[in-house]
Amino acid sequence: MMSGRPTAELQPTLRDYESRARHILSADRSAYFFGGAADELTLEANQKAFSKIELLPRMLCDVRGGSSRLTLLGQDLASPVLVAPVAYQKLVHPDGEAAMAMGAAAQDTAMVLSAQSSIDAADARAAGASCTWFQLYWAPSREANLELVRGMADLGFTAIVLTVDAPVQGVRDRETRIGFRLPADVSAVNLAHMPVPRFAPLEQTESMLFDRIAHVAPVWSDIEWLCQNSPLPVIVKGIVHPGDARQAIKAGASGIIVSNHGGRILDTVPASITLLPAIVKASAGAVPVLMDGGVRRGTDALKALALGATAVLVGRPAIAGLAVAGAAGVSHVLRLLRDEFEIAMMLTGCRTVQEITPDIIYRPDIT
Ligand code: FNR
Repeated sequence: MMSGRPTAELQPTLRDYESRARHILSADRSAYFFGGAADELTLEANQKAFSKIELLPRMLCDVRGGSSRLTLLGQDLASPVLVAPVAYQKLVHPDGEAAMAMGAAAQDTAMVLSAQSSIDAADARAAGASCTWFQLYWAPSREANLELVRGMADLGFTAIVLTVDAPVQGVRDRETRIGFRLPADVSAVNLAHMPVPRFAPLEQTESMLFDRIAHVAPVWSDIEWLCQNSPLPVIVKGIVHPGDARQAIKAGASGIIVSNHGGRILDTVPASITLLPAIVKASAGAVPVLMDGGVRRGTDALKALALGATAVLVGRPAIAGLAVAGAAGVSHVLRLLRDEFEIAMMLTGCRTVQEITPDIIYRPDIT
């Protein structure tokens, strides 16, 4: 081993990127990006659950000519690791989502642009051709949502990711205690013209949640309406119950993302990887099922695919790459994951992503 330089500098892992990013960012931004809701049990569970799943490789398989490539909703991707939507990336790097898009494009994978992107969606698209999916939070008016979706279609986005697990923000104690606030120069610029919800006057309401916010939160009929009217396929993100997976497919969804929002919304929801198999079963192959939450190693992505996911997304690892080294950092994080994923494919005897099956997951009753 070479002396004088820390090993992490020679061969950093995603966890090294995260600890460096936490060091670089101010304490309040670090709490915003790396913290979770309440006691952060779900945040922790997302990663822990992967470590409890063990791989059982097959030997002597012929993997010549193999690859980690796949086609997802018509898009050709170098690997099944995509970039999850994460809000306000200018808090991490001056070029924000543009640098993220560049990093994703360098690795030939897809990036989901958050509804709360801090740069114009057109600029994000121009920065990296891989920025192809736009994430939407439901706004109070159906027409306003559709207008926004049409605008994104005109910009060349190819799918809408509708996030349904956050009608209200989670109890984010870490952030609140440290006093995190958005600075004046960072905002959700693509939503600047969206209608502001008109609530009943405070004095006529008893509950801020049930008498105000609940009146503008989406319900299944809205999802159905959007799927019917959207010019782009709608992928529903934030599904954790198999019943909701069935309902989303019935409503017309073109894909499902199993996600607990990285443990930022409702604490004590099980890890995404724990929930994945039941949702894959409920979806019965009707639509692609993706997952996110806690993916930090190529073996995590392999386990997710073995349990039926078509692809995975990473949120905080990409943010850590962005904080440490801008577009190059994002690209490096994604490359590390792809390299690790391909090594794990080869070591488990999988030549293509289609060949990754539950057979490589250890079960005590194996015979
Ligand atoms: C998010 N996530 C998120 N999701 C979404 O649909 N729209 C958004 O604007 C955001 N914003 C956001 C901000 C921050 C700081 C984080 C950490 C996460 C959730 C994100 O898409 C994804 O579900 C999780 O980040 C996945 O977990 P990991 O990969 O961070 O463990």
